[in-house]
Amino acid sequence: MNFTQDIRVDNESIELINYLPNIGINNVREEILEGLRATPKYLSPKFFYDGKGSDLFEQITHLKEYYPTRTEKKIISSLGEKLDVSFKNLHVIELGSGDSSKISLLFNQISADELKTVTYFPVDISQSAIEKSASELIQQFSLKNITGIVVDFFHQLKLIPKPGRRLFCFFGSTIGNFDTSQARGFMKQLGNTMQSGDSLLLGMDMVKNISVLESAYNDDKGVTEEFNKNILSVVNNLTDSDFSTSGFEHYAFFNVEKSRIEMHLKALKDVEVNLGSEKFHISKGETIHTENSCKFNLDDIERFGMWAGLETVQVFNDPNKWFSLVYYKKN
Ligand code: AVJ
Repeated sequence: MNFTQDIRVDNESIELINYLPNIGINNVREEILEGLRATPKYLSPKFFYDGKGSDLFEQITHLKEYYPTRTEKKIISSLGEKLDVSFKNLHVIELGSGDSSKISLLFNQISADELKTVTYFPVDISQSAIEKSASELIQQFSLKNITGIVVDFFHQLKLIPKPGRRLFCFFGSTIGNFDTSQARGFMKQLGNTMQSGDSLLLGMDMVKNISVLESAYNDDKGVTEEFNKNILSVVNNLTDSDFSTSGFEHYAFFNVEKSRIEMHLKALKDVEVNLGSEKFHISKGETIHTENSCKFNLDDIERFGMWAGLETVQVFNDPNKWFSLVYYKKN
């Protein structure tokens, strides 16, 4: 089952395909329960992003401490002619498109004539984010074709269309949310769906000074804290749980051994949480692990390509080498 509709944005119509009903509310509930039953407890970071969570993340991207977004945006903006891809009749598929502000930096560097031949597929778990960004792109660019796809791309990658030569864009180092085995699985799957001539632009946040890393996830204004706690409200809305956000504190640190920032919610006192007929006891000091944000090195860049069966063609960096934008190709 899927749900295809035409949506009108600014007197133009875009096509929208929503595959989320395939996952179903019961599976979401099961996924949440599985994490809460586990020791240690965890929740998937995809549950950060309801309307409020997406707004909070956007605020994070503007914080002085949070370097990844502005660093990656600078790299994208200066790609220019250096990126070895032809946009003529290209199908640009952006995984986790969010507000589409990154892809618009790329479209800025393409001639209007060429852009008319491009089809853009924003792929996101949030339908409202896709609608909003599509409307902005239509106003800004001579883009003729936009097809929004609402999926959980970790589980539903195969559902992404194969209309012709494709450029996959996976910005933001969102791949860092996966642990090693998930990243391997994801890259394998992506490599399998890619056809000869398809390519991938992958944003990867690199290992750097620990205090820079930890500050980025512990900002002075407490926006990241609010973002982290919001996951409990999202879970309350998706299930019928009764988490109180005030019972937890934000806890984020760099795990050197695993080369990742970990975000947790730490119970300030013993808490009881009800979810349907199940009761969860969380002891004071116990944490719910809400996110991993892996930080990569040069070997990881090659390894990801190998897992996917892709050639590493170009690596673009900022002067500090804090962030890498990697261009891979399927031969
Ligand atoms: C959207 C997953 C790339 O890991 O840096 C920002 C999310 N979490 N601050 C990241 C996030 C806390 C972000 N990603």
